[in-house]
Amino acid sequence: MSYEGRWNTVKVTVEDGIAWVAFNRPEKRNAMSPTLNAEMIEVLETLELDAQAQVLVLTGEGDAWTAGMDLKEYFRETDAGPEILQEKIRRDACRWQWQLLRMYAKPTIAMVNGWCFGGGLSPLVACDLAIAADEAVFGLSEINWGIPPGNLVSKAMADTVGHRQALYYIMTGETFTGEEAARMGLINKSVPLADLREETRALATKLLAKNSVVLRAAKHGFKRCRELTWDQNEDYLYAKLDQALHRDSEGGRAKGLEQFLDEKSIKPGLQTYKR
Ligand code: COA
Repeated sequence: MSYEGRWNTVKVTVEDGIAWVAFNRPEKRNAMSPTLNAEMIEVLETLELDAQAQVLVLTGEGDAWTAGMDLKEYFRETDAGPEILQEKIRRDACRWQWQLLRMYAKPTIAMVNGWCFGGGLSPLVACDLAIAADEAVFGLSEINWGIPPGNLVSKAMADTVGHRQALYYIMTGETFTGEEAARMGLINKSVPLADLREETRALATKLLAKNSVVLRAAKHGFKRCRELTWDQNEDYLYAKLDQALHRDSEGGRAKGLEQFLDEKSIKPGLQTYKR
């Protein structure tokens, strides 16, 4: 299925199981406008049901990942419109930036190729994994133009970065590089920009080789478990495990046990079972 030209502000290409989703407003540093937010909802909902798209990579055209919320279209122009419209526009932003993305049915990787500011931190952290260019520049710039971090940016920071570093960048608005973002745990790793695409492809390929039902149960289980107590987690995570066994048509658990215990053909500590 070709998605060429289907959306104005987002470019989608599906290739060898990987859906490359790129914010496509390079002339505005991929700032997230109401149109982009509405289109991203459609993109995510469409790709979730596309069997060819097994891993989703979120990136940006040009020299930005995203410069955050669009200060003109998302803020100024919306302020001038009816109050009820602000409600819808905020809801659309939340809908894809963390609600859909955070519990997406397929693995997601943020590939941060450049500027990543403000509101961009919500989808960054909502992606399961993140790789950035060493040269990428991140910032919680809100304090520089008169608001505290918007959307769920503070929550995103609290879930990934240590208390002191989160507050430092929230309160000073200073920028930091891809390398620093990796040291802080905001992303998994940074690599030179020239290698970013291949590194991301290699990570996506690693995920493509896994059992997709089990992968989904594993990531959903982890993301929810932070918010539950130990007792609740006992119920929830075992229910998740049982759900995965029930839905896994490839019978991964039985295969894994058989290959280790009977055939002695794998060591699960060292490699995956043969699918
Ligand atoms: N919202 C709306 N427009 C934006 C934007 C944003 N967040 N970020 C950039 N743009 C627009 C600029 O207004 C400019 O538009 P114009 O050509 O019509 O004048 C265009 O994108 C290019 O931006 P420019 O600032 O010239 O690019 P740059 O490469 O020199 O700098 C940034 C890039 C990202 C450092 C700079 O654009 C910036 O600071 N953006 C705001 C970042 C921010 O605070 N985001 C948080 C919002 S919550």
